[in-house]
Amino acid sequence: MNITLRVWRQDSPSSRGRLVSYGVDGVSPDMSFLEVLDTLNERLTLAGDVPIAFDSDCREGICGSCGLVIDGVAHGPLPLVTTCQLHMRSFADGAVIDVEPWRAAPFTVVKDLVVDRGALDRIIAAGGYISVPTGAAPDAHAVPVAKATADHAFDAATCIGCGACVAACPNGSAALFLGAKITHLGDLPQGQPERDSRAISMVEAHDGEGFGGCTQIGECTAVCPQGIGLDVISRYHHDVLAALIHGEG
Ligand code: SF4
Ligand code: FES
Repeated sequence: MNITLRVWRQDSPSSRGRLVSYGVDGVSPDMSFLEVLDTLNERLTLAGDVPIAFDSDCREGICGSCGLVIDGVAHGPLPLVTTCQLHMRSFADGAVIDVEPWRAAPFTVVKDLVVDRGALDRIIAAGGYISVPTGAAPDAHAVPVAKATADHAFDAATCIGCGACVAACPNGSAALFLGAKITHLGDLPQGQPERDSRAISMVEAHDGEGFGGCTQIGECTAVCPQGIGLDVISRYHHDVLAALIHGEG
């Protein structure tokens, strides 16, 4: 395959960015999207040009670090995959593909395709934990959890914090991420002691970071590689309301 990438290049957070076209030939349909960027970077480096900065780590859909907006869609055209799991067979030979960073006010562009997603970490730090006594590990079945409850908590816990939901949301809201984090702890018995304070603290952190409010548009869940559903947003609204009734916040 021969393709053209139109890549967002931006030297620093304060500099002006622009799309730059690069032709890449000899692309295998089995290459991942990130491998094409690797190949292009090798060629740029050998030519004495500055390689394209982009984030990646696990390259198997686990870490959440590889988000790119590809042809206007967070993580590209294939549903339920991260950018690192997207392969070139999803594109036509001769395709011209736009590659941009996540765009949302709290995600500053650091360089080229790399954005600072520290705001998501700070939301987790505000309440994404439980208090447990240290010491000997308790028996695994000491606190019974119904299978359906455990499954629901686990599904919410699969959120990898990639930020695609924010990039896709016209409001720049991180409500899907927030809902996943509040739900996976609030579902379980171990998460009950801080359930009220967690909901209030994490929502305050979300709003304080400059993320927008949720108006249930649903663009977030359409691009989420983990298939997190809108029900987690209803769940965090429920938890916030309950916390306010209990006098929290
Ligand atoms: S909810 Fe989905 S899209 Fe949003 S951060 Fe988590 S995994 Fe990524
Ligand atoms: S590099 Fe880890 S999810 Fe893509």
